[in-house]
Amino acid sequence: MDKLLVHGGSTLSGSINISGSKNASLPILAAALLTDQEVIIERVPDVSDTNYMLQILSALGCEVERYSGTVKIKAAQIHPEAPYDLVRKMRASICVMGPLVARLGRASVSIPGGCVIGDRPIDLHLKGLQAIGAEIDTEGGNILIRAKHGLTGSHVDLRGKHGPTVLGTDNLMMAAVLAKGTTIIESAACEPEVVDLANFLNSMGAKIEGAGSRRITIEGVDELSGTHHTVIPDRIEAGTFMVAGALASPGGITLNRVRQDHLTEATQKLLEAGHDVKFSNDGLSVFVQAGNDPKGCEITTAPHPGFPTDMQAQFTAMFAITPGISVVEDTIFPQRFMHCAELTRMGAHIKVDNGTAKVQGVAQLSAAPVMASDLRASAALVLAGLRARGTTEINRLYHIDRGYEMIDEKLLQLGANVQRVRGSI
Ligand code: EPU
Repeated sequence: MDKLLVHGGSTLSGSINISGSKNASLPILAAALLTDQEVIIERVPDVSDTNYMLQILSALGCEVERYSGTVKIKAAQIHPEAPYDLVRKMRASICVMGPLVARLGRASVSIPGGCVIGDRPIDLHLKGLQAIGAEIDTEGGNILIRAKHGLTGSHVDLRGKHGPTVLGTDNLMMAAVLAKGTTIIESAACEPEVVDLANFLNSMGAKIEGAGSRRITIEGVDELSGTHHTVIPDRIEAGTFMVAGALASPGGITLNRVRQDHLTEATQKLLEAGHDVKFSNDGLSVFVQAGNDPKGCEITTAPHPGFPTDMQAQFTAMFAITPGISVVEDTIFPQRFMHCAELTRMGAHIKVDNGTAKVQGVAQLSAAPVMASDLRASAALVLAGLRARGTTEINRLYHIDRGYEMIDEKLLQLGANVQRVRGSI
């Protein structure tokens, strides 16, 4: 297992390019199952989650080719059984359910296991598929989905206890594109990644309207064709590096290949915390500079366009070393605070209670060996390490490699003093 050594105290400067979005790529890759023609997808980040998805597609019978960010997939002859060994590695593998049942009339996918960021049920995915005529059974740890007589459009409300579901909306959208008649999804997720998937599907010949709003209308078509698509920039990777700039760059850093309209909430909170954020006129680059007089603030995560839960850990790390008291509430994953125990080991003052972290900023963090517990928690520890006294050793780096493309190289490019140690336990 690799680990990352972060030698604290460096000043960041210069610029990097932000990669394509992991969370947009995953369902888009799965959507390639919907056609027997070739699809070409560009700017797929080279991270282990996209690699797992490509392995799943290969195991389902797809021909897959990948070279420098471009992926070609041809799903000419596929079968409906997603192998447990691969599916268990990544929860997002459930996105193959919708396309498989739409294309083949049946799918068998393992039930995803527990997840460190909290309880992650799939009831809403199943509700959506059932609403358009799929029959669902479980057998031997697998979900069996059948649509003997095909899928039929319907009206379905996908709101759950914690709001809309991103991958649940994606799954239903991918199944409904080949259903007979019209499907209307109410309380749909409107994250930019859902919009990117809808754009991809429309470019294949689907008829989807309203993606990006709470009501998506899908008129089923008989078949889809091949296409060529470029994935949107990763707003969470961009947001993570924006926090790095706020924490460790008095002179400022520039992030290229971003989308300003996807970074509104992170930008607003960095400004509120006293940092400087300026976008280029076209909104495709952002300059972030640490403020002279930073101050704590309050954050409550919410479905898009609210503050993203995937940025919660990184902001919590920033607040750990920001004067004043900050309050961070995660309404989407109230248990997603594993990073706080590790930050506390680095000298942070954080109390977590019932889905809310109260952070009393300290003047200095001190390095410690820490354990990455999930993707965004690991990113938070890297950020904290940039400002800690001494060398922070982040173990279980595979968590960060799931979703950040070449994070160590990008940090080095910005002048951070980090070092990947390969193969350590
Ligand atoms: N939920 C249900 N039932 C369901 C599905 C979800 O109750 O059937 C609940 C969840 O437990 C949660 C809320 O609904 O409380 C929202 O979960 P959602 O379904 O939207 O999460 P997801 O689609 O499984 C995606 C991202 C996550 C991100 C969430 C929320 C991908 C591959 N994953 O997951 O990203 O946190 O949306 O925005 O797109 C990450 O990148 O680190 C990550 C975890």
